[in-house]
Amino acid sequence: MGKGVRVLVPATTANLGAGFDCLGMALNLYNVFDFELGSEGFTAAGEGEESLRASSGRLIYRAWQAAYEYRNQAVPPVKINLKSNIPIGRGLGSSATAIIAGLFAANYLGELALDDQELLLLATEIEGHPDNVAPALLGGLVVTANGDGDGQRPALHYVVLEPPGELQAVLAVPAFELSTAKARSVLPKNVSRQDAVFNVGRAALLVAAWSSRRWDLLGKAMEDRLHQPMRAALVPGLTQVLEAAEGAGALGAALSGAGPSVIALTLEEQAAAVSEAMERAFSAHGIDCKIIRTTPARQGAYLAD
Ligand code: HSE
Repeated sequence: MGKGVRVLVPATTANLGAGFDCLGMALNLYNVFDFELGSEGFTAAGEGEESLRASSGRLIYRAWQAAYEYRNQAVPPVKINLKSNIPIGRGLGSSATAIIAGLFAANYLGELALDDQELLLLATEIEGHPDNVAPALLGGLVVTANGDGDGQRPALHYVVLEPPGELQAVLAVPAFELSTAKARSVLPKNVSRQDAVFNVGRAALLVAAWSSRRWDLLGKAMEDRLHQPMRAALVPGLTQVLEAAEGAGALGAALSGAGPSVIALTLEEQAAAVSEAMERAFSAHGIDCKIIRTTPARQGAYLAD
């Protein structure tokens, strides 16, 4: 047996409404990746296993390769086994886990000594936006902003905010997949100043509310005008599911990443009612969905003992 490592990487929910492409949060739901040096091969079991097998672990290998190439080192053959616990194509950061796992494992097994900033830049280059890969690597609620960089690579500024113990996350995960590419293709190239100001204020409010535990502000802070209204055409019942969650007592609700899942943040006492209300609202639009009750996660990617 070659030298190996097990890496666990959490699901993530990006945007949280207003924070399009700059806010993301880790969830307590982890994919498990086993890497073994010496030979090639890819197996996958669990959520989306057929599509994952068909992909041959393409994203994981791409990230693995990117880390070695960044250090100008030869890329060693590696065998990868994935135990998938995160629904794929549902806006829960399954592809970000693949990218982070590939980079993280290469960094460890290849002794590449990449720091978080370097890992995040490589991950963002592959994913195209930082808001899933950052919390997948670092855990917590992560605020990211593109910097000017050194002219060669863009720098990335980020701050991790700890999730509070009292918040729960209810995920309503529709039975259909929606690709991020398709969900981005419906977005306009330009936005009005009014809508930009609407979102800037709410994204800032969300971070302020989080830091001061003003949960009464989450509902307002998670409103959005930059992507959800356009994506509603791709997710039947989206508006009603958001309303149903808040009507049942959720503190706030939003499309999770590019969708089609919806996330509601809630306190324990309301979680059951919020789950039922979201499921019912999707069902009224002919959409079957699975409910996952979880919590925001403090822990980003990590090596298992
Ligand atoms: N911010 C990205 C988007 C997240 O909304 O397109 C994709 O998971």
